Amino acid sequence: MTRFLLLILTLTLSLFAISNESKICQKCHPTIYNEYYASSHRKASVLNNPIHKAYWEKHPKDEKGYTCAKCHSPSDKQVMKTGILKNNDIQKHEPISCVYCHTIKEVDQGKMSNTNISSGKVKEFYTADKSKKGSKTAHFETKSSWFGLVKTVQNSPYHKINYNNENYYNGNVCMGCHSHTNNEHNFDIVMLDALINKNDKNTCISCHMPQVPGSKVTLSETKTHAYHGIAGIHHMNQEMGKYIDFNVTQNSSGFTVNVINHANHALFGQALRQGVLKASILREGKEITLEPFIFTRILAHDGKEAMPWNATGTLKDTLIYAHKEVMFKKILQKGDTLTLTLGVQLLTPKGAKELGLENDKEVSKFRILKTQKFKF
Ligand code: HEC
Ligand code: HEC
Ligand code: HEC
Ligand code: HEC
Ligand code: HEC
Repeated sequence: MTRFLLLILTLTLSLFAISNESKICQKCHPTIYNEYYASSHRKASVLNNPIHKAYWEKHPKDEKGYTCAKCHSPSDKQVMKTGILKNNDIQKHEPISCVYCHTIKEVDQGKMSNTNISSGKVKEFYTADKSKKGSKTAHFETKSSWFGLVKTVQNSPYHKINYNNENYYNGNVCMGCHSHTNNEHNFDIVMLDALINKNDKNTCISCHMPQVPGSKVTLSETKTHAYHGIAGIHHMNQEMGKYIDFNVTQNSSGFTVNVINHANHALFGQALRQGVLKASILREGKEITLEPFIFTRILAHDGKEAMPWNATGTLKDTLIYAHKEVMFKKILQKGDTLTLTLGVQLLTPKGAKELGLENDKEVSKFRILKTQKFKF
């Protein structure tokens, strides 16, 4: 017991010593913390994401200031209040902090964007655990048996846990930031087009925060924990391919690939993002590479290509919604092996140029989601 009291004491002291709250969580949830630290959520700020920085620098400014904070650094209370962006520890280490996500009580629907409503509780966190749903708020307990000789502890000595927020079960907790982001012209520049349906087998959380090996906490041992690095473009991208299927059919002028998307949202909808479908045929020992197909939205204003903040519509939309048929004008022959590779690039070549990031290798890197071979 003294061990726990000591721990609580040091934690209380460190609360005053450091402003970085997530560091406190790290003491008992080190694996989750390390994943979080490498995640896009920790890197969502101007300080940590060069694309975000370039985009904000080009973005027109007005008296409202840095409105991006609402989703990119809501834990920085200062910028949320004033709109004035300053370099500080929160921007660097926890722009979207552990506590921020774990205290989202509900999500308010809005025309330009949704809004997260916080519970305002400092040390009571929501999470999902089906086996504990419906139970009362969990707090630290010690039980003794054998006349006090054996002591067992339960739950967290640092915080309470609330298992009864439906938003953590159906994925709605993500929708305060991920539903839609409208620009000043009321045009949605992040076309996720997500729809949460309670009959869906998977949720935002089961696909993007899958259970991976490693204990969720040090004080007791669990086999797995929810992946906080966020499976997606930057991490576990090849595993995300299992939610996408290719269906190939031949016809008289070539072949068609139907790309079937099992996510409850469109793919590659972030402004200036692009998906790429590469196809090559191995024929009699020779590789024939076909022209790749690009999935993207070309944003426009008055019929001309425009940057996201000016956009009022699209010139072209080739995103994958429920599915997308892509035609290749090449007739397949018996004995051919067709290789299909679907991947994503953070920025379209044009977008990279507009943002002055054409020499940044990260933004043009081809990140593979799925590759599959077909024999004919
Ligand atoms: C002193 C250690 C300690 C600290 C510090 C701590 N936790 Fe915990 N946390 C625990 C323990 C123990 C559990 C209970 C795990 C269980 O038994 O399911 C837990 C559980 C949780 C859960 C629910 C997990 C589940 O499935 O039951 C969440 C969410 C959580 N902690 C978030 C946080 C956050 C956010 C912070 C930092 C603000 C934090 N914790 C700091 C010890 C700690
Ligand atoms: C309503 C919430 C919201 C607001 C407000 C918002 N964003 Fe975002 N932004 C997001 C989300 C969610 C993503 C991730 C989308 C994705 O990956 O599909 C994102 C992604 C981005 C990206 C892509 C980052 C990358 O690494 O590819 C850039 C750049 C960006 N936002 C810039 C901005 C700027 C600049 C502002 C302010 C003018 C802003 N955003 C305001 C929610 C928001
Ligand atoms: C406070 C707002 C906020 C919340 C809540 C939030 N996100 Fe994000 N998310 C963002 C922003 C902003 C980005 C883009 C960061 C960047 O790259 O600049 C992002 C990026 C992502 C990405 C892209 C990953 C990659 O590799 O780049 C995925 C996937 C994602 N979030 C999933 C989720 C899921 C699932 C949830 C719910 C458990 C969630 N997010 C909750 C703001 C949020
Ligand atoms: C983008 C929002 C978001 C952020 C940021 C975030 N979490 Fe979580 N966390 C979640 C969600 C959603 C779940 C529920 C996962 C599930 O259903 O299994 C979760 C689950 C957990 C759990 C329980 C793990 C399990 O396997 O059930 C712990 C412990 C936890 N988080 C701690 C943390 C800590 C510590 C941090 C910061 C280092 C953090 N979280 C940051 C959204 C977030
Ligand atoms: C069935 C699995 C599945 C579900 C459910 C799911 N996603 Fe995805 N998501 C994917 C796949 C596959 C991709 C494409 C790979 C990538 O770009 O990361 C993706 C991509 C993303 C991206 C990056 C898009 C981009 O190009 O910028 C974000 C952000 C995201 N998902 C958020 C969410 C949110 C929020 C939810 C819940 C509404 C959700 N996802 C539900 C599988 C899923």
